[in-house]
Amino acid sequence: MIERRILILRLSSLLSKFPRIQTKLLINSLDKDNIPNHVAIIMDGNGRWAKKHGFPRLMGHNEGTKSIRRTLEIAYELNIKYLTLYAFSQENWSRPKREVDGLLKLIGSNIEKELKQLNEKGIRVIIIGNFKKVPEDILNKIDNAHEVTKNNKKMNFCIAFSYGGRDEIIQASKSLIRDVLEEKIRISDINENIFENYLYTKDIPDPDLLIRTSGEIRISNFLLWQMAYTEFVFTPVLWPDFNKNHFLRAILEYQTRERRFGLA
Ligand code: IPE
Ligand code: IPE
Ligand code: MG
Repeated sequence: MIERRILILRLSSLLSKFPRIQTKLLINSLDKDNIPNHVAIIMDGNGRWAKKHGFPRLMGHNEGTKSIRRTLEIAYELNIKYLTLYAFSQENWSRPKREVDGLLKLIGSNIEKELKQLNEKGIRVIIIGNFKKVPEDILNKIDNAHEVTKNNKKMNFCIAFSYGGRDEIIQASKSLIRDVLEEKIRISDINENIFENYLYTKDIPDPDLLIRTSGEIRISNFLLWQMAYTEFVFTPVLWPDFNKNHFLRAILEYQTRERRFGLA
């Protein structure tokens, strides 16, 4: 079966001039019983996409929001229960102020704009990160999105915003130590399950698949704890060019992997 999928992956790349046929082939070839429960994506390459087309960087970020919509749609159709997108890292705060301001504005306005439709589709919105530096108007939009969608069950759309994996582990450790000092928990009781309860991703299962676009082969401080056994797919496609078929190909590639979790 795995060999057959590898063959289909090769065949589908020959069909890039015929996207509809490619979609059909990919959808028909997917194993419906092995759809990843949680897909995480490092959406990279907006700046390079803008440069390639002679636009300012923010145009690349703007164009990237269309890929977010496309990806959410296909993930929803495939019945993927958790989709997590890396929208803004803690390190991204160090970019030029103009770009940071533009990104914050874009993220805030999109949360607001898309909320009604997300809610109607039964999608729960979860935004994770360290919000210490986040302006109040965006914080209000985040709180509102959480509140409005908190009971939705069809799908979970998680956005990592002002997020850093190391920082998440530090914050978790601080809260845990606080609970130890207040004698809510004993040191001898601490284990992986307990520790996970202190992470931003508490209640969110670990990603099964990570996709990173733009050809960079690194994880840039994303979900360090959670990706211990995640399968990685890297694609050279720049995020604004990432489409439904690229996503389907990544899922099919995931289905060519044999996950062993350390067993024989
Ligand atoms: C990803 O695109 C979006 C964010 C990091 C916010 P980049 O802005 O990193 O684009 P490149 O990597 O410079 O092409
Ligand atoms: C990672 O991309 C962060 C996001 C996609 C939000 P970067 O472009 O910031 O990462 P590096 O600098 O290439 O590692
Ligand atoms: Mg980048």
